[in-house]
Amino acid sequence: MKGIILAGGSGTRLYPLTKSISKQMLPIYDKPMIYYPLSVLMLAGIRDILIITTARDVIYFEDLLRDGNHIGINISYAIQDEPNGIAEAFLIAEGFIGDSAVALVLGDNIFYGSNFGNIVQKHSQLKEGGIIFGCYVSDPERYGIVEVDEELNILSIEEKPKNPKSYYAIPGLYFFDNKVVDIARQVQPSPRGELEITSIIDKYREKDKLKVQLLGRGLAWLDTGTHESLLEASNFVEAVQKRQGLYIASIEEIAYRRGYINKDQLIRLAEPLIKTDYGNYLIEIIKQEEGIK
Ligand code: DAU
Repeated sequence: MKGIILAGGSGTRLYPLTKSISKQMLPIYDKPMIYYPLSVLMLAGIRDILIITTARDVIYFEDLLRDGNHIGINISYAIQDEPNGIAEAFLIAEGFIGDSAVALVLGDNIFYGSNFGNIVQKHSQLKEGGIIFGCYVSDPERYGIVEVDEELNILSIEEKPKNPKSYYAIPGLYFFDNKVVDIARQVQPSPRGELEITSIIDKYREKDKLKVQLLGRGLAWLDTGTHESLLEASNFVEAVQKRQGLYIASIEEIAYRRGYINKDQLIRLAEPLIKTDYGNYLIEIIKQEEGIK
């Protein structure tokens, strides 16, 4: 399976923070936001990744993540000229996707929870149809919403409904088979002028090819849409990392634990960061493995 991170958009809801910098480059506590969605794809075992961003911002992402070789993955880049909607990602990525299935993660979505790595790894095996998640929220009018019955049959999919039929938001992580490119071609702009991801999801539902996995209380899905939620996301990451001593979205750690890089490569990645807790954390991983106190 291939992976796409959609990291464009105009970021106007976070102005003036995002006036001259990409939203997905903003810090979430100790790392740039894009580390979090990137870590999700890496946890899923997806190593061919396309980052879609704006013509203005692409150089910064290239500077940060290069071709991904240092963390054992392949990263390429593409431009979205205008924020025409999330579904456009599949049209921009057509050549990259080729004949593979594909996972799309939004560059501003943060996930954290026990067993999440196993869940996404399982879904990355998808060959046919589509898989979405459902997360219980208190403000469903802000999201794409999935309505299910007791047997988890999907009854409806709606984008930011005024009168939501359920409290299950669809977070920005989607797994689709190769038909997604053809389906994206058929999608028409919504009244707000965007090619909506929920239109694609609904097409899979109509064909009875859609599955939903509801994520329970053990999974945190964090929003970064407002200044307040951005700060809350940083506070959450800080609290978990301090308390557990385990880092969220350390792409170097994931690369090492998934066997994409070896010990010497991890040490080399840690060296320039050694003045930070982050760098020391990476060194500590190796020391603990070797039983050194
Ligand atoms: O966060 C999950 C929600 O994301 C879903 O529940 C909704 O179904 C989905 O439409 C989306 O809603 P948002 O209102 O949060 O979408 P937003 O316009 O904020 O875009 C999400 C991210 O995708 C953001 O980082 C910017 C990027 N983006 C968005 C659009 C529309 C692009 O890169 N290009 C685009 O054209």
